[in-house]
Amino acid sequence: MATFCRSLTLLGRPTSSLVYRLTAARQCSSGGPYEYILVDKKGENKNVGFIQLNRPKALNALCDGLMKEMGKALDDFEADSQVGAIVITGSDRAFAAGADIKEMQNRTFQECYGGNFLSHWNRVSTVKKPVIAAVNGYALGGGCELAMMCDIIYAGEKAQFGQPEILLGTIPGAGGTQRLTRAVGKSLAMEMVLTGDRISAQEAKQSAFELTLAEGNRLEKRLFHATFATEDRKEGMTAFVEKRKANFQDQ
Ligand code: CAA
Repeated sequence: MATFCRSLTLLGRPTSSLVYRLTAARQCSSGGPYEYILVDKKGENKNVGFIQLNRPKALNALCDGLMKEMGKALDDFEADSQVGAIVITGSDRAFAAGADIKEMQNRTFQECYGGNFLSHWNRVSTVKKPVIAAVNGYALGGGCELAMMCDIIYAGEKAQFGQPEILLGTIPGAGGTQRLTRAVGKSLAMEMVLTGDRISAQEAKQSAFELTLAEGNRLEKRLFHATFATEDRKEGMTAFVEKRKANFQDQ
């Protein structure tokens, strides 16, 4: 469960000191090449596993391929005795703008439910080594959920957290309703989930407190799948892709 969240500003450190600049090639020191992430080992002793989301044109939207690559990189770091901790980061503009809406747009309820859509995302929260999310820019929907799956969140000044799924006619599906409640409290979490409004790193830190995570994640995932049986979910995602306002019919 993430500590939500420690602002780098408040810690008195410039963002760039923690959110390492990655110049290395797309080659993982402990595995093969990746298409959607950059993977490296950092630090004097190469003991920090480093994963940078790398889909800049899509604001690091978390497509299936990216999350599969993330799982592989995490497996490799977990097995690598040299690695003591793992950092997941994005860019200054976006940690991640959520699950990939273009990929989800035409999915059906049957596909989501039958295939247990998003279940493999859980790998992030089952890693035994400490995982740190270094967040700047948008951390929305699945991006916010990805950050909250990490053990600690360090947020830069430009970080914005939000669960805007309601604006797409769906709900958070990767732990948002559960972890956000525990991270920022029920009232603010409900406000964020029901309005889609975003909060800054400062606001998140002010409302932060810790509770333990319970079983609600499974229920949430099933409810998320159920939104794929509604017309409004299809309309919400289609409107996003077509760059127009959604015309919800409560169906
Ligand atoms: N999925 C797919 N593509 C996305 C995306 C997403 N989540 N977010 C942004 N993009 C793409 C845009 O489609 C656009 O691509 P094109 O240039 O090919 O059209 C590109 O990234 C840049 O985005 P914008 O032009 O929209 O950039 P902006 O600066 O005007 O707005 C933003 C930025 C406010 C983040 C806006 O992109 C946005 O609202 N994104 C969607 C956020 C969202 O709804 N996230 C939740 C997804 S659902 C989810 O995550 C479910 C879950 O719980 C797992």
